[in-house]
Amino acid sequence: MSIDNGRITSATQLYAVIGDPIRHSKSPLMQNAALNSCQIDAVYTAFHVKPEQLQACVEGMRALGIQGMNVTIPHKEQVMKLLDELDHSAQVIGAVNTIVNDNGRLIGYNTDGMGYVRSLKEETGADLQSSRILMIGAGGAARGLAYALLNEGCEQLTIANRTLERAHAIAAELQAFGSIQVAQLEDGRPDILPEEVDVVINTTSVGMHPAVEISPMDKSWLRSSMIVSDIIYNPLMTQLLHDAEEIGAVTHSGLGMFVYQGAIAFELWTGQQAPVHVMREAVLQAL
Ligand code: ATR
Repeated sequence: MSIDNGRITSATQLYAVIGDPIRHSKSPLMQNAALNSCQIDAVYTAFHVKPEQLQACVEGMRALGIQGMNVTIPHKEQVMKLLDELDHSAQVIGAVNTIVNDNGRLIGYNTDGMGYVRSLKEETGADLQSSRILMIGAGGAARGLAYALLNEGCEQLTIANRTLERAHAIAAELQAFGSIQVAQLEDGRPDILPEEVDVVINTTSVGMHPAVEISPMDKSWLRSSMIVSDIIYNPLMTQLLHDAEEIGAVTHSGLGMFVYQGAIAFELWTGQQAPVHVMREAVLQAL
């Protein structure tokens, strides 16, 4: 990668991602590729911020006029109380992954769910309003995706989880936005007929590096008519997606969610359309 410090001037604006750990993050590569491609006079860097320094970090953002930040593990929840305003997405999901510095007012957003939905639609052509969707998992990631899917007007959403109460809890929390059915997940088999599902989305971490050989779903439950999607992007092809591809289903990896959550953050910060292809290429090259 070439680094061109020569273009940094006293007018150059700053963006950053904060997290603990952070040195593995692909966001700087992706966002700098986008800033360069759009010829925006700004740079995007990564700061390793420990939990005990989070408050000082947000004060520093105000003091230095940092224009925007992405927030990753473990700060997504704790940062909320340090901001001036929360967008509806962040309020409902209960986590912030993007901060916009609007002339000194720090506004928190959550672009993960919206990013996922945009990626699924654009990359698979799925018509989510008329699709019967099954989500596997009922953790924080599932809550954000369920909210975005209900906002999209998705009529039939089922959450299958090993611990059924957690699926019930999300359904209850989000009932103002639409109805969610719940199903028991046992040994990789959700308690719902595969013929009643068009899109399967894995929101659990099962299959993520380094335990790449396991899948949250029993292969024999999958059907070739399904779109099978995973929010994991390391590896790009999880065991679940391998199984789905083998039986002829359409597959969708978590790379799209990562790229689009960044693209939406970029659009919130710059007001410009994000160069999604450039961003995707930058991440792919780094994987
Ligand atoms: P996140 O915030 O990243 O979504 P989380 O809140 O820990 O993480 O949620 C992880 C999800 O993965 C949960 O739905 C969890 O199921 P339980 O609620 O039953 O614990 C699911 N999960 C994790 N490991 C699993 C496994 N081996 N099999 C099935 N589900 C699993």
